[in-house]
Amino acid sequence: MRWLPAAAMLSTLLIAAAPAQASEPLREHAADRGKFIGAALATGPLSNETAYRNIAASEFNQVTAENAMKWDATEPSDGQYNFGGADQIVAFATQNNQQVHGHTLVWHSQTPNWVQGLSAANMRTAMQDHIATVVGRYASNATVVSWDVVNEVFNEDGTFRQSFWYNTLGQSFIADAFRYARAADPNARLCINDYNVEGINAKSTAMYNLVSSLRQQGVPVDCVGFQGHLATQYGFPSSLQQNMERFAALGVQVRVTELDVRVQMPRDANDDATQATYYRNVINACNAVQACAGVTIWGFTDKHSWVPDTFPSEGAALIYDANYAVKPSYTAVHDALAGPVTGDDTTPPTAPANLAASGTTSTSTNLSWSASTDNVGVTGYEILRNGTQVGTSTTTGFTASGLTPSTAYQFQVRARDAAGNRSTLSSAVNVTTQPGTGGSCTATAVTQTQWSTGYVIQPVTVTGSGLNGWTVTFTLPAGHAITGSWNATLTVSGQTVTAKNMPYNAGSGATFGFQASRPAGNTALPTGFTCS
Ligand code: G3I
Repeated sequence: MRWLPAAAMLSTLLIAAAPAQASEPLREHAADRGKFIGAALATGPLSNETAYRNIAASEFNQVTAENAMKWDATEPSDGQYNFGGADQIVAFATQNNQQVHGHTLVWHSQTPNWVQGLSAANMRTAMQDHIATVVGRYASNATVVSWDVVNEVFNEDGTFRQSFWYNTLGQSFIADAFRYARAADPNARLCINDYNVEGINAKSTAMYNLVSSLRQQGVPVDCVGFQGHLATQYGFPSSLQQNMERFAALGVQVRVTELDVRVQMPRDANDDATQATYYRNVINACNAVQACAGVTIWGFTDKHSWVPDTFPSEGAALIYDANYAVKPSYTAVHDALAGPVTGDDTTPPTAPANLAASGTTSTSTNLSWSASTDNVGVTGYEILRNGTQVGTSTTTGFTASGLTPSTAYQFQVRARDAAGNRSTLSSAVNVTTQPGTGGSCTATAVTQTQWSTGYVIQPVTVTGSGLNGWTVTFTLPAGHAITGSWNATLTVSGQTVTAKNMPYNAGSGATFGFQASRPAGNTALPTGFTCS
């Protein structure tokens, strides 16, 4: 038997009375399933309490900094970085062979006032600098493997939260944040995170649509975090597993990032039992979904929890009580992790055969192949262009579009089965697109908001056929000046502005936006949006 600290030994004794499941620490059982079980850690108790340190080290194989990596902690004033707390968490995790999830880069809360008052252009620069510096610091550190890039961008009805980020920069801050993070650490897994998105509802559907559209645009969103701040009085989100599965089908990893289950105080045995059921349900849902990487609990002891500060009549949300004794919820998490591994298939499908291309135009080609076979069933195919996955298909065909005229491409396909196993790659098919015929396009501009001294034009939508790049020109009224832009490169010559596509939005349906200032009292807006 492994050496166990006193608190974990106590849990071992209690679990011994439970059904016959081996009583290893949580992290051992999670690792056996290829999952993580994590905890959010706070720097104070990590420095001051031996029991806290021992349980954090022995029970969890993943760590999130509860507060130490947030903007107010890492960059309290412009360009003045402080990594004391963040480094403390990372050092602890490294020492204990745990992975760290960075939390959080762009959020409306716990962000200093100096950021909130910036102009659009300066705010975008501050965001880029912050992400480059914070992510960059740990980019070559093997302990830090993932980040919450943007946090809590939605309202409950699925509209965008009117945060200072959104109000100043528009929706584009989200895609930009992910691109900046990818640039700072190409290997980190990049997540979008929110609360009340555990079940299928308006908010989680908005998240689903956003993630789907970002990925279609090539924005590097790798993962979706369901915070999981649950309360027994509101019931369990019973569509959690189904919700995880629909996100997984988009090709992203999913995870529960901040699990706790608060009860009405004072707690009693009924509360404990209901809470234990909620914890068990969450672990079981993650166990059942291949794409679910693991579950992080938002702390572990009721001694240190954000809940009573925010909900004064509620509390006791975690799996250890305030004296570091295990609760029924600990046993529920333990037994769900230790239970039998169902659907544990490791046999991959056969590789798709006879891959062929037909009907190749200047911008697209039709791929077809013969079906793969598998012992538990093929669920779909992944299409790779020059070695990078560009799409999925549930049939034995796929139209690869958005190609550049007169260009050579290599395509391959692989199959996935119901357990998430992938086949080897099919043999490749080489395709050269037809020469381009030139496209025509139109540009339509929407005034999102305006005030006496400025306005935001968002979106300008470019549509056309056969587009592989575009140039939009328009006329800026006298005295107006561009103060910021996104998703296009703008150059100004006299009153004429020329906007050119970015590499990632060269096709029809591309949108871009900009903000401009104008003299007080002048109500004019740009005119003559022309696309070529
Ligand atoms: O560090 C100061 C301390 O110097 C001061 O004396 C004390 C006085 O109130 O405040 C301390 O800061 C507090 C900080 O936690 C560290 O304890 C802040 O007031 C307090 O607001 C902050 O609360 C954190 C909260 O996020 C802020 O929004 C919680 O600990 C943290 O658990 C919570 O975590 C969030 C996730 O990041 C995102 N999802 C929701 C989740 C729960 O709200």
